[in-house]
Amino acid sequence: MVEKMYISKINPLDNVMIKEELEFNELIKEANLRNDLIDYFRNLPYVDSIEDYINLVGEQVCSFFEAGRFSLALIHDDEIIAEVAYFSDKNHKPLLDKGFKQKLSETSLGKMAKDGTKFRIINDLRQKENSVSSRLIVKEGFLSNLTVPAVVNGKVIGFFFLASEEINHFSEEDGLMFYIISLNLSPKLYHTLSIQSIISNFGNSLVNLAEYRDNETGNHIKRVALYSKTLAEALGLEPKLVREIYQFAPLHDIGKIGVPDRILLKPGKLDEDEWAIMKTHVIIGMRILEEFVESSSDVIGKDALRTAINIVADHHEKWDGSGYPFGKKGEEISIEGRIVAVADVFDALTTERPYKKAFPFDESVKIIEEQAGRHFDPEVVRIFMEKLDVIRMIYDELKDVRSEEICDMTEKD
Ligand SMILES: [Fe+2]
Ligand SMILES: [Fe+2]
Repeated sequence: MVEKMYISKINPLDNVMIKEELEFNELIKEANLRNDLIDYFRNLPYVDSIEDYINLVGEQVCSFFEAGRFSLALIHDDEIIAEVAYFSDKNHKPLLDKGFKQKLSETSLGKMAKDGTKFRIINDLRQKENSVSSRLIVKEGFLSNLTVPAVVNGKVIGFFFLASEEINHFSEEDGLMFYIISLNLSPKLYHTLSIQSIISNFGNSLVNLAEYRDNETGNHIKRVALYSKTLAEALGLEPKLVREIYQFAPLHDIGKIGVPDRILLKPGKLDEDEWAIMKTHVIIGMRILEEFVESSSDVIGKDALRTAINIVADHHEKWDGSGYPFGKKGEEISIEGRIVAVADVFDALTTERPYKKAFPFDESVKIIEEQAGRHFDPEVVRIFMEKLDVIRMIYDELKDVRSEEICDMTEKD
């Protein structure tokens, strides 16, 4: 079947005016266009992130099929299907958003996966009002869609979707074409997912490792990640950067693995020499990540951990240039570094440390506000103040139990 679709490139006939030949030229043009598209996807580069993948693929398929939306949902644990990424033209407000989950058995996709169906066309999504995902996509302004499974090693790992604003937009021929394209898209998708998962597991292992030594709780890591994500989203950063900031903020202090116990675990304040050693955690952390990228350069891109490295490198830099280790100033500091700096300091203020009590929430907010333009990027602080209700929710939800409260509880026992 696939073979038949390939027509080696033929130059259109010249100097012919008769109707049949003009039509024939049109057919050749069309065939060449299809050939080019198949070639494009066959030669698609391997990328490290699902966002890069979706942008790379989305624009091409949407323009070829004159569709307004390309998206991807993956199957987890054989039963849940979750929307993971989409590419959509700017006129549509996404309602069927990333993270939307449905049981495979509650959708017709389960049957499609089981039967080995190559493609499925729904000519009018309004007729499928019983499906939650269809309802949402209709609300976004799409009326028909075309679905093909993403098959890797004979197993359906997810689905690719194309959606159009018109009813009856997709033809059987489109279905077959999208299916052929999917034969190239699926292995590349699998590559991207594998790389993303290795990077994320590598990061989690480092965080676990650091946690065994440091007395900072796992909740500190979670809160800093959530505060940072809140700020990154509110600043309107790209979805990829928002995801990476959330994913990599927990790595900010991994270099502490290289700081000796007598300093890392010292209950009192550090003297000048000890402080100088403590500060080396930034460079140690950067080196760990950079070495991982270098030694994996045959499988991952050199920028795969860029955001993580920036977070580690910049989280102690200050807006006015008085931070460390490089004394970077203003926008020389990466935005991810400026965000994590606010999140990390705010969390340090609001929690108890061996050498200090926790400041109350409001007092800590005041300190952050006072440091706008000095320690922190004033814009990040402005967003922080704007999102104070969300910050408070995270603070309340993930509050540490203080040592005196633990004493109270054991006494009661
Ligand atoms: Fe640090
Ligand atoms: Fe920290």
